[in-house]
Amino acid sequence: MQIKSDKKNLFIGIMSGTSSDGLDVVLCSIDDNQIKIIDSISQSYSRKLQMEIIELNSPSIDELNKSKILGNKIANISIKLIEKLLLNNHLDPSSIKAIGFHGPTIRHVPKDFYSLQIGNEFLLASRTKIKTVSNFRNMDIASNGEGAPLIPLFHKYLLHTKNIKKGVFVNIGGFSNISIINNSSIRGYDLGPGNVFMDIWINKIKKRKYDKNGSWAKSGTVSDDLLRRLLNDSFFKKKPPKSTGRDYFNLDWLNKFNLNDFKPEDVQRTFLELSTILILREIEKLKGLKDIFICGGGANNTYLMDELSKRCRINIRSTEYLGIKPELIEPAGFAWLGCQSINNNKLNYKAITGAIKDNVLGVVVHP
Ligand SMILES: Nc1ncnc2c1ncn2[C@@H]1O[C@H](COP(=O)(O)OP(=O)(O)O)[C@@H](O)[C@H]1O
Ligand SMILES: [Mg+2]
Repeated sequence: MQIKSDKKNLFIGIMSGTSSDGLDVVLCSIDDNQIKIIDSISQSYSRKLQMEIIELNSPSIDELNKSKILGNKIANISIKLIEKLLLNNHLDPSSIKAIGFHGPTIRHVPKDFYSLQIGNEFLLASRTKIKTVSNFRNMDIASNGEGAPLIPLFHKYLLHTKNIKKGVFVNIGGFSNISIINNSSIRGYDLGPGNVFMDIWINKIKKRKYDKNGSWAKSGTVSDDLLRRLLNDSFFKKKPPKSTGRDYFNLDWLNKFNLNDFKPEDVQRTFLELSTILILREIEKLKGLKDIFICGGGANNTYLMDELSKRCRINIRSTEYLGIKPELIEPAGFAWLGCQSINNNKLNYKAITGAIKDNVLGVVVHP
């Protein structure tokens, strides 16, 4: 029987980002000139599991064992989602070329030559019977790169599939990162906090996972004084390549700012303002661009998107315009990176992470 063309070159991408909000899984077909999302499935983590992952970002007793047990939990959730996805699409595991798996980052310390994501790629490969690629960041770091962001090359590929030569992507996850594509040149780097402070704050004050549509932030007023002090951090002044995460921007970092002196909703509004300004500032520097594509969960924060659109002189669009929902860009990106890995394609991240050479990224586990 002939396989239908959209059932060829099938890959699965799994992403669980720094927000630790849940797992996004996509099934897609990938070739040199086209990516097609066939199906997707997402699962939110319980607040308890989210807290357990976030706590692992700081040193604690028995953390080695905890990270392995939690990694297994995440692998087991992923396995169930993959089984469902295959069943819903009447697919056999043998029709999937590979899984690109990115578990939650619990440490990202390029200066000490490591980045640590949890998950269990051996369980994934063994149980799903699908080749599994993981650990995408450490070869880049070994080449003196930041190990992040890795998604810009996928953004570039995405524009290529649509025959678009220039464009900017801003991914608003726990942290925000930007990709600037101008014909064959590409730059990309982390901007700093995206949703992470808004999530931490609403979690602390209201025990909620996130500020839906930014409505709590909207009820507050920006504190210019707090904003100025937040923006004074050296990371925001540093030139790229640069990457960051919860190792640096976390509750300890926030505790320096006496947040209890402010109305809680004003703090939330100021955090939204910080995320907005970090993005707008970069966009202001760019010339000759028509479109900015927003992806990541922040694209669903309607208040944040309204503020960005109102204050930006260039069109702000969701990546939906390119045919991929904003929350699926990262999992699709890791499906694509998995595809590059099993094809032994060396990727050039020099202008993004600062790596000194091209590398095949990821470690492949065979079932
Ligand atoms: N409707 C929404 N309103 C406000 N924020 C949202 C909404 N949907 C998602 N988010 C934010 O997006 C985050 C998840 O984004 P995601 O791209 O998955 O980040 P990460 O890659 O860090 O996991 C959530 O933690 C939340 O802060
Ligand atoms: Mg997420």
